[in-house]
Amino acid sequence: MAVRIYISRDAAAQALGADETTAALQVAAAAKGTSITLTRVGSRGMVWLEPLVEVEDTSGQRIAYGPVTADDVSGLVQAGLFDAAPHPLRLGRVEDMPWFAQQERLTFARVGVIDPVSVDDYLAHGGYAGLQRALGMTGAEIVHEVLESGLRGRGGAAFPTGIKWRTVLEQHSPQKYVVCNADEGDSGTFSDRMLMEGDPLCLIEGMTIAGIAVGATQGYIYLRCEYPHAGHALREAIAAARARGYLGTDVCGSGQAFDLELRMGAGAYICGEETALLESLEGTPISAVKKPRCSKASRASGPRCVTARPCQQSRDCSVSRPSSTTSFRSARCRSFSSAARRTTATSEWVARAARFPSSSRAT
Ligand SMILES: Cc1cc2nc3c(=O)[nH]c(=O)nc-3n(C[C@H](O)[C@H](O)[C@H](O)COP(=O)(O)O)c2cc1C
Repeated sequence: MAVRIYISRDAAAQALGADETTAALQVAAAAKGTSITLTRVGSRGMVWLEPLVEVEDTSGQRIAYGPVTADDVSGLVQAGLFDAAPHPLRLGRVEDMPWFAQQERLTFARVGVIDPVSVDDYLAHGGYAGLQRALGMTGAEIVHEVLESGLRGRGGAAFPTGIKWRTVLEQHSPQKYVVCNADEGDSGTFSDRMLMEGDPLCLIEGMTIAGIAVGATQGYIYLRCEYPHAGHALREAIAAARARGYLGTDVCGSGQAFDLELRMGAGAYICGEETALLESLEGTPISAVKKPRCSKASRASGPRCVTARPCQQSRDCSVSRPSSTTSFRSARCRSFSSAARRTTATSEWVARAARFPSSSRAT
């Protein structure tokens, strides 16, 4: 039987030589005549141990070694790596390591464990249970559950997600959209990146639930160009979800449509601000955009302080011209989301929603 080996495909792990370690392991296994099944996973988060190699032992436990450079591979294989044998780089089970053992992983529960672009792996670890449940509910019921859950946005204002979803649900528009703010512009903040690289289907499922809930049939993920690895993972995951009927004109045979498109920004910090993001997404320069002082959503819970702050023009923001700018511009209801975060209600994701009447935009 083939020995199962797991190595991260996360950007940080790759920067530290995970690809070279992977190649060296394949060469060493072939030379030894050992059959291995190599799965590239997300990062467990212990970047100081990357490249982290996990080997499944005969009892099905994953035994970690790290950091394993390409130069370490030959000695490790000689010492019995494929049998999870002792070695100075052997760390034992990741779950038993003190840094890891103290944590209760919710959003990141699958990251580093599953193949990020395998629908089967995602299903085997509880994926799509939320969508299946949501498909048996009305949009209003889903929104009510998100409201009751107390879920809040992570953009800084902690605005109740359910109120944003309800606002979009109540709009009568022939076309609504869900937009994920995956710009993650704050320096050194990599939680969205790691999630998109390690469990992109979680984001895809969350956006699908949001779309079904509010009546949106099209979603956009706005990703900064500094995240090419996340882009690869998202593209692969979107294609895999579409191939299995989790995206498209008939989501899981429900008769409801929802599809996703990935759009890459040019990497301007201001494009993480929601009105600038939409301008960038629509392919227009973001000159003198003024945010509305409050949205209909915010009025429901008292005025929400949406800073009326003009943005400086930035050529960097004039990117990713959409192929259907006109139809996209016809949207009056826009639902914002950030990269996936867990909710105990209907999905493992926090959606970010806001409505910005185009009339509020300074031109
Ligand atoms: C200059 C600026 C940059 C921002 N960058 C980001 C960002 O990179 N990612 C993000 O999620 N929100 C960013 N925001 C906040 C968004 O405008 C928006 O409030 C947020 O995406 C809403 O998410 P929430 O509903 O989860 O709170 C930024 C805001 C400003 C003013």
